[in-house]
Amino acid sequence: MTGRSIPEVLDGYQVYGELGEGYTGQVFLGHDPLLDRHVAIKFLRRDKNSPYQDQQFVKEARAIARVQHRNIAAIYRAGRLDEMRYLVLEYISGGPLSAIKAPLALEQALSLSLGVVRGLVACHRRGVVHGDVKPSNILLTRHGVPKLIDFGLSVYRGSCFSTMTHSLKVGSLCIPPRTSRRFPPVLAEGLGDSSKDMTSEIDVTADIDATGTERGPRLIEGTPDYMAPEIWKGFSATPQSDCYAVGAVLYKLIEGCVPFEDVMANDLATAVQCIDAPRATKAPPEVADVIARSLARQPEERWSSAEALYVALEQASAVEMLLKKSMH
Ligand SMILES: Nc1ncnc2c1ncn2[C@@H]1O[C@H](COP(=O)(O)OP(=O)(O)O)[C@@H](O)[C@H]1O
Ligand SMILES: [Mg+2]
Repeated sequence: MTGRSIPEVLDGYQVYGELGEGYTGQVFLGHDPLLDRHVAIKFLRRDKNSPYQDQQFVKEARAIARVQHRNIAAIYRAGRLDEMRYLVLEYISGGPLSAIKAPLALEQALSLSLGVVRGLVACHRRGVVHGDVKPSNILLTRHGVPKLIDFGLSVYRGSCFSTMTHSLKVGSLCIPPRTSRRFPPVLAEGLGDSSKDMTSEIDVTADIDATGTERGPRLIEGTPDYMAPEIWKGFSATPQSDCYAVGAVLYKLIEGCVPFEDVMANDLATAVQCIDAPRATKAPPEVADVIARSLARQPEERWSSAEALYVALEQASAVEMLLKKSMH
């Protein structure tokens, strides 16, 4: 992964066995002997000497540091040992939400989703868009509190939000096999054989950094089953695309499958952009309405913010709990 083995002691932390791995990192259990507590140490993959990966590393570390919240796994330190970049994080012992077999009981699905949205509200308030909300990026504490991890695809919007547009061609997107894992970045411009284009030329908002400067051609990054239509088109992540991902997570928790489960991998991008997501049938109407609005194809038809989603979800949950009580 990093070209060298993982040390037994790093920066004063004992390094134990592997906790998990994803597309960008390998995560180990660690121990801080001074504070006598466990930590999680995420080593960033470093396959080649890419400045992009260094930027990602700093971006991920700073995004987590900006947001301190009960539903976000905290960061204690970011460091570098030779070629290895690592993050020392709050250790969350209950495993990922993806390890729990869906469908879940409605009450549990709602309470977990509310926790995730609370975390997102905190992120968005600090200008951080998560960009990769999905069950494997939601860990549970041993008391069942959900915590968002993995800010590797986060976008820091700061206070600057330019609406500059430029013409971007979404070519043949080398769609990867259907997977719940993140796929490698795909350039949203000038790819492949135009006869196989899934979409024609479209105008998109330019990806911008905090100073309002364009960062060049957009990379399409994310996890297919949780990616909003505009992400497939090449837009960068926004609070609305995070709300879409929450809708897909809640749908999965209640229905037992993702909204476009039956669609073949090669058709997913087109389906997500052209067909309305199916309505959640196992959810009560109030909850199904919240999910439907989260999964609206047009970002402006979704919740205007994570706060708005939170309020609606809390109300729908309260109605559900009241109905349940009245039946007993
Ligand atoms: N803070 C943590 N506490 C416990 N386990 C963790 C923690 N962070 C990550 N993991 C484990 O490592 C896996 C990969 O971590 P993640 O940050 O999602 O990496 P990637 O960016 O490669 O997807 C997670 O799914 C989880 O199993
Ligand atoms: Mg991950």
